[in-house]
Amino acid sequence: MVKKIFSGVQPTGNLHLGNYLGAIKNFVELNNDNQNKCVFCVVDLHAITVKQDPKELRNNIRETVATFIASGIDPSKSIIFNQSKVTAHSEIAWILSCVARMGWLNRMTQFKEKAGKDKEKASVGLYSYPILMAADILLYDATHVPVGDDQKQHLELCRDIAQKFNNDFEVEDFFVIPEPLIQKEFSRIMSLKDGLKKMSKSDESDLSRINLTDTKDQIINKIKKAKTDSLPLPSNVEELNKRPEALNLIGIYSSLNNSSLEETIKNFSGKNFSDFKNSLSQLMVDKIDPISLEIRKLLDDSDYLDQILSEGVKKAQEIASQKVKKIHEIIGF
Ligand code: AMP
Ligand code: TRP
Repeated sequence: MVKKIFSGVQPTGNLHLGNYLGAIKNFVELNNDNQNKCVFCVVDLHAITVKQDPKELRNNIRETVATFIASGIDPSKSIIFNQSKVTAHSEIAWILSCVARMGWLNRMTQFKEKAGKDKEKASVGLYSYPILMAADILLYDATHVPVGDDQKQHLELCRDIAQKFNNDFEVEDFFVIPEPLIQKEFSRIMSLKDGLKKMSKSDESDLSRINLTDTKDQIINKIKKAKTDSLPLPSNVEELNKRPEALNLIGIYSSLNNSSLEETIKNFSGKNFSDFKNSLSQLMVDKIDPISLEIRKLLDDSDYLDQILSEGVKKAQEIASQKVKKIHEIIGF
């Protein structure tokens, strides 16, 4: 079966190891399978749901493209584009906002987390954010959406919206109901400073995350300072599951090494954290440093990055405009 893949990453700077292991690494594997048709979107409209500096936003859009390419996505195989340039996304988000129900959105945990205590001050865009995400996915008839674990709820909402549209307008199968592609293990990479908190670009402490643009020395230093507990490494997964920091570091090692937790535990069981951290730093430098160097090289050639986006925009526009035409007909515009 041909899989139609769609995913998005926000250009908000500091793309980190969580983005890489939770999402982008998976994008690369999907891109490499010639059977798949992939669309990877720099979701700049989502980024402005919180305040952005225009100059930084422009740089961050390019940096996200550079990260995609440096990680191994091939722009001649996959469509890479920026969301704001294909106006169908905003338009269809409006239409879908007339399909989605308030009660559905009120359940979204990401809004609750991001809006914090003072919900009255959150932008309306932050609240309706998952509807725009549904528009992204449904415009391209995506069958599969690779994301990290934190996006699972938004994807369920997208499925509900698609289903309701199909039912309301009696157009069975018009919107494809997308399947989430969430990795079974390592779908949530945690902060290096707190094994119970997600690794995030918005964490105040830079020591909490490995940025994909970090240098070798920064990586080694951050792993050295990563929080651990005082016991030697565990001998089985059951014990590991009770120790969040150990679980996170062993999970990161396994994911980078393409091995299972069990295999990693077998190699390090009974050793102390300092030995394990040396191996982890080495592995991480081997995997991340080439990406980091390539990102920095690509960022020197903004014309090349802009060209990739403008070619991607053309291809995306072609697909999206056909879908919009059909949506207009169905609705009665
Ligand atoms: P964002 O930067 O919020 O646009 O996220 C881009 C992708 O990275 C999404 O698929 C997220 O689910 C994924 N992601 C972000 N943070 C993490 C994390 N700490 N662990 C795993 N996946 C993550
Ligand atoms: N909301 C996603 C995130 O924060 C990004 C995103 C926007 C997305 N549109 C999408 C992901 C469509 C998958 C499909 O990570």
